[in-house]
Amino acid sequence: MGFNIAIDGPAGAGKSTIAKRIAAKKGFIYVDTGAMYRAMALYLIRENASPEQIDEKCQGADITIAYENGEQVVYLNGENVNPYIRTEEVGRMASVSSPNANVRKKLVELQQRLAADADVVMDGRDIGTCVLPDAQVKVYLTADSHERALRRYKELTAKGESCDLETIEKDIIERDRQDMTRENSPLKQAEDAVFLDSSHMTVEEVADAVIALCQRDKL
Ligand code: DC
Repeated sequence: MGFNIAIDGPAGAGKSTIAKRIAAKKGFIYVDTGAMYRAMALYLIRENASPEQIDEKCQGADITIAYENGEQVVYLNGENVNPYIRTEEVGRMASVSSPNANVRKKLVELQQRLAADADVVMDGRDIGTCVLPDAQVKVYLTADSHERALRRYKELTAKGESCDLETIEKDIIERDRQDMTRENSPLKQAEDAVFLDSSHMTVEEVADAVIALCQRDKL
């Protein structure tokens, strides 16, 4: 078995930034599980699937990942869908389709296969609790909702998109509620996960804190 680092937490906590930094520093593979749920959502949008059809239609999506120039590339039925999965529309569909048990089964199997023989840092909502319960290092990374909204606001305004901070914070609070209260694999801290609040920490400080946890495990 490889060395597995599991990072869970709500949207906007900085999971992917931290996970990428750790992967680069330690030479691990970064597995972005949110991108897989997004690829599935894109498929369901293209198929015009109603919520009742998700169970059946999700079977038609073959999702695989590859690494090209150090970046994770998600393939949906053989097509590189990285350019299409970061939209608000796909994000909304992902939050509707990711609670579905069939969707999760398919993607969790893929995630477990990826982690079986490789050193990985994997981020998501249920990695420490369901996908990699034996991960050597588990982190629950969060930040207060105002700080997470502010980060998202800065990201969007930097891209030239107009947005409203208060609306973003409301959306974040609602997304948290959905992720934490869903029946299948809700977002929650694993019992053996280390809690990290990044509200007042830099990326470097958080990454160093996680790397220190790996050293605790003598890697
Ligand atoms: O982290 P993200 O915004 O890319 O995630 C997209 C969606 O997928 C979001 O609705 C949460 C869901 N997700 C999940 O249910 N389980 C995971 N392991 C990762 C993401």
